[in-house]
Order: sequence, then structure tokens, then C-alpha cells
Amino acid sequence: MKKIILGVSGSISAYKAAEILREFQKKGWSVKVVMTENATEFISPITFLALSGEKVIVDQFKDLEYGLEHIRLCDEAEALLVAPATANIIAKFAHGIADDFLSSLYLACKKPVFVAPAMNEGMLLHPATQRNLEILKKDGVHIIEPEEGYLACEEHGKGRLTEPAKIVFEVLSALGKEMKGLKVLVTAGATREFMDSVRFISNPSSGKQGIAIAEEAAYMGADVTLLLSSSSKEKTLVKTERFETLEDLRAGIKKHDFDILFMAAAVGDFRPSRRYEGKIRRGKNITLELESTPDLLREIAPNKKSGQIIVAFAAETDDLLEKGKKKLFEKGADLIFVNPVGRGRGFESDTNQGYLIFRDGNIKELPESSKRDIARKIIEATISIVRG
Ligand SMILES: Cc1cc2nc3c(=O)[nH]c(=O)nc-3n(C[C@H](O)[C@H](O)[C@H](O)COP(=O)(O)O)c2cc1C
Repeated sequence: MKKIILGVSGSISAYKAAEILREFQKKGWSVKVVMTENATEFISPITFLALSGEKVIVDQFKDLEYGLEHIRLCDEAEALLVAPATANIIAKFAHGIADDFLSSLYLACKKPVFVAPAMNEGMLLHPATQRNLEILKKDGVHIIEPEEGYLACEEHGKGRLTEPAKIVFEVLSALGKEMKGLKVLVTAGATREFMDSVRFISNPSSGKQGIAIAEEAAYMGADVTLLLSSSSKEKTLVKTERFETLEDLRAGIKKHDFDILFMAAAVGDFRPSRRYEGKIRRGKNITLELESTPDLLREIAPNKKSGQIIVAFAAETDDLLEKGKKKLFEKGADLIFVNPVGRGRGFESDTNQGYLIFRDGNIKELPESSKRDIARKIIEATISIVRG
């Protein structure tokens, strides 16, 4: 199990460190907590002991088991994260002051260090703090920028600790190795095609499968952009741009360079051949003419640059393997995931299943599992193609 060391210093937002700890555990990580003496004024070490199941180190002389923890602790971990980080601990890190356990640990740590500042805006914007943050950046520390919002001092301003889930996302994506250096573009969700200013044709795709792929790729270190339908209600921390129609999606794909494109969006095959301005009034029957939409995969795949990988998705109601193979070979994708839809399957649900079809004819069945598991398997298959 991967381990992170979570340093907690004496900020009013120290209680949020408990949520950060939980977020890491949800991702399958173990957490060792180290606190400054002043942090214990805000939250008790017992809370972290109970949540992490590991002894919390506060006092650099009394809380030790073998005496050299300040040198060795980082060796067993992937990284050191200090959240919240006070102006004081930032100043100590910047100037090499090692007068307590956390600051000694920082100096001895050879692993990546992340610092999430939290303080009143005046403290943050003070030239001394700004200078110290610059020093830390130059020393290779990842600064997780604080947010703007209501601060504990009842002022509005910058200095609020970044939300726990976002901190964990930033740390894990910076530590991800499997897809480091790869630019990944993911499309997700349903297109909307309007017949007038207020009515449209669409489908029930939630975007969940594409979002899971985007997030898992980010956790593996990829530089990910997600093109997500404006109709999707799902929340994500991945860099996201919204689209509404197929034309928006097409423009979005053209705008971004990529090494891997996952085309998981459910693009409508038909759209009204004209869009009326305003609202069509009821009263008499109308005939809605639908035109076939351009096939984005057929447009993009033949023009891809050498080395680019395109993963196609097909949601089918029958003959999955036949239809999947046809789409893969006729349209020139590198890999296709074909899944059954209809009768509660595929769209909107939290699980998925289907087949991965490779260009060498190999077929891999992915039995029903969470969309996150399916995302990991699709990514693993894609990485195997990238690495040849
Ligand atoms: C109620 C209260 C809230 C505080 N919140 C913060 C804070 O959010 N950020 C900060 O830098 N200092 C804050 N301080 C000041 C620090 O606790 C103080 O600078 C302390 O010396 C930090 O010690 P440490 O860095 O060793 O944990 C706060 C102090 C009090 C009394």
C-alpha cells in the first residue's frame, strides 16, 4: 500500500486535514500524520491516530519508536504533504530552520514535497510570505495554491485552504507515473441538437464513463483535458471544457493536441436539418426533418498524426462484436470499447461491461464492474498499445 506523510500545522483549518486523510484512504493510500505542537491546539492527535491507525508524531524527542524518524520516515513514503501549512512553517521550510519534528523531517526528506498554505489574506500577501513561497518553489516544492473565499477571520479574500478532494487530486496526479508526459483528450456525455431555441434531441448519456477515464488518466500522471457535455451533472476535478452540439465538440477536439484521444461522448447520429429561431408554437402538426450528422471518428482517425492513438467507443443494442469490429476497422481507430446499452444498461448507471477489440483481432471481455474499474482496464489496454 502506498503511503503519504501528512504534516499538519497550526491553522484554523487543521480540522480539514482529517478529511484529506480520509480522501487518501479512499484512494487506497495509508497516511502517517505528523503535527506541529501548535496544530494540537486546533485538533487532537487522537483524531488522526484513530483515523489513520498509526501513531502521530508531534514531539521530536518523545514520540519516537527508534529515534531517527526525522531521517527515515520519508524513505517509506511516496511524498510529504503539509496541509494546512501556516505562514510560520512555510518560513521555517524556506530558511532551513529545523526546530521541531515536521521542520526537521522536511529538511531530511528526499521525496516530493507538497505544501498547501492556509492563512488570512494579509499573512499570505505579506512580502515575507510571498518571498518564502517563491523560495520553496525554487527548491522544487509543489505549492497547492490557496483559494479565494470566506476566511475564518470573517474577511473575504485569498488564503483559504484548497478543498481536501482537490488537494488529494493535485498530489496524486503529480505523483502519477504510468502516463507521465502524455497529453490525453477525453470526450464524454451527450450532444444536444436543437430544433428551435428551447428544444433539442439528445440521449441519456451521463458522461460517467468518460469522466472516470479522464480522472484515472490524471491519477496516472497524464495531462488531461475533458470535453464534457453541458448536460452532464457529474462533478470532476479534471480540467474541463463544456460542449453542447456536435459542432462544439468537433471544434473542441480540433483545438487540442493529444497523444491519446478517448472518444467516449455519445454523439447523436441525427440532428434537425434546421434550427428555428425562437419557440415553435403548438397548434398544427409539424414534420421534423432530421439529417445524418458527420462522423467525427471517420473525420479524425484518417488524419491523425503518427504516434497518436484513438480509442473509439460504441454503444450497441445487439451484435456487439460484429458492430464493434466493423467500426474499429472501417473508421481507423486503434482500439474500441463496445458496450451494451438499453434496458438500464450503459447510460447513466454506475457500472458497465463490454468488450475491448484490438486491431490485431484480440478481444478482451470486460465483465460487469464499476465504471472506474472499466476505465482502468481501457487505459491499461491503451498504454499497452502506446508502449508497443
Ligand atoms: C485561532 C487562530 C487561528 C490561526 N490560523 C492560522 C492560519 O490559518 N494560518 C496561519 O498561518 N497561522 C494561523 N494562526 C497562527 C499560528 O497558529 C501561529 O503562527 C503558530 O505559531 C503556527 O505554528 P506552527 O507553524 O508551528 O504550527 C492562527 C492562530 C490562532 C490563534
